[in-house]
Amino acid sequence: MTGFIKLIYGDQEFKLPVFEGSEGEKAIDISRLREITGLITLDPGYANTGSCASDITFMDGEKGILRYRGIPVEELAEKATFKETAYLLINGRLPNRDELTSFSVLLNDNSLVHEDLRVFYESFPRSSHPMGILSSMVNALRSFYPELQDLEEEINMTVTRLLSKIRTLAAMSYKISRGHKVVYPRPDLAYCANFLNMMFDSPVKPYEIDEDVVNALRVFWILHADHEQNCSTSAVRLVGSARVTLYAAISAGIAALWGPLHGGANQAVIEMLSDIAENKNMARVVERAKDKKDPFRLMGFGHRVYKTYDPRAKIMKKMCDSLLNKLKISDPLLDIAEELEALALKDDYFIEHNLYPNVDFYSGIVLRAIGIPANMFTVMFAIGRLPGWIAQWKESMDDPNWKLGRPRQIYTGPTQTKLVPIDRR
Ligand code: ACO
Repeated sequence: MTGFIKLIYGDQEFKLPVFEGSEGEKAIDISRLREITGLITLDPGYANTGSCASDITFMDGEKGILRYRGIPVEELAEKATFKETAYLLINGRLPNRDELTSFSVLLNDNSLVHEDLRVFYESFPRSSHPMGILSSMVNALRSFYPELQDLEEEINMTVTRLLSKIRTLAAMSYKISRGHKVVYPRPDLAYCANFLNMMFDSPVKPYEIDEDVVNALRVFWILHADHEQNCSTSAVRLVGSARVTLYAAISAGIAALWGPLHGGANQAVIEMLSDIAENKNMARVVERAKDKKDPFRLMGFGHRVYKTYDPRAKIMKKMCDSLLNKLKISDPLLDIAEELEALALKDDYFIEHNLYPNVDFYSGIVLRAIGIPANMFTVMFAIGRLPGWIAQWKESMDDPNWKLGRPRQIYTGPTQTKLVPIDRR
């Protein structure tokens, strides 16, 4: 606590404590507001509401800063593996060599999924979106891996299973959707390479692992690993607060991420760029995005917290250029994206609204270069975000101030009224 704020309401004066975080961010602690004043707060979209105090991720939207457990995302993207980043988020510190080895062994031992789960895949219509399938399959895991007696062991096993099996589930959904043979995980491959092999290996065309592609996927996943209290993470915390299983909470997070205003934006960006490529309508797209009467928005632009260039988008763009260069790929959508970015960044509307590219603007071009189909883009985001969701869920479960998540509302409907019998309505 770092002081008080005075609240004057009518002829009464109240004092509310101010809470300060480790980076100097301050918040009014309103946890006793209704008790002492009879008032609640109203904050649509929670834009001014801190739902928790958290040790995991720090972001400064004005300065474009993002750190996991204090380490800048730029440094992690340069020097860490995705596995180390996941360990860091979940356990609060980077693993030493022995811890990393044990973690890798556990992930390998848990990488297979129950064979009976394949029947589920075959029951989904072929046109099903992989995000819907992933959300269902993660929830279904619960029935295949019943709860262990020891709570700590149960949590550790569930965390390990989810981190490892999510890759297998995602790759299986891709293979089955194409009518191809499922590829099993391999013990000799590390986390990212193993996933790529499960996606692209075929009995008639063995997949050749390219270190540049593996590195691109590593960076992509690290950049998505956590982003404090965004929509899907808040869904995981809120659903988790009802003390559902971690599987159910993560399944809710995947469903939230699917939305085009959140993780689904990476697919929407590619669709928008492809539309521009086909119809040569860039100026019209920008005009539509600025038109208040049109619900269309420039996909991959803008962010609730970043009011400057998203630091992840900077790294993603650099990595995108380097990957396409190394793979000798010339993607016409990259040229369109660059042109669109330049056009938007000099436009008064985007300047005045502080709208810059977010992480999704260039990520689809990276995924295309890796060979990932557009409808799997948000699944890729979900795999990357999983360590963050788990870390946030664990933190909320361990919080001594834990409470069931249950916001209030201000009712604006009719006051008490009588039920009119059906023949008089
Ligand atoms: N194109 C055009 N105008 C925009 C855009 C955009 N992409 N984003 C925001 N604006 C405008 C709004 O119309 C609004 O204008 P107004 O104040 O004149 O009415 C103003 O900027 C503020 O927008 P809000 O919707 O209030 O801001 P919010 O913080 O709620 O929106 C969001 C954030 C949802 C990400 C928004 O920028 C958006 O829709 N972007 C496009 C979708 C997208 O890329 N989503 C991915 C976000 S990153 C992630 O989740 C991984």
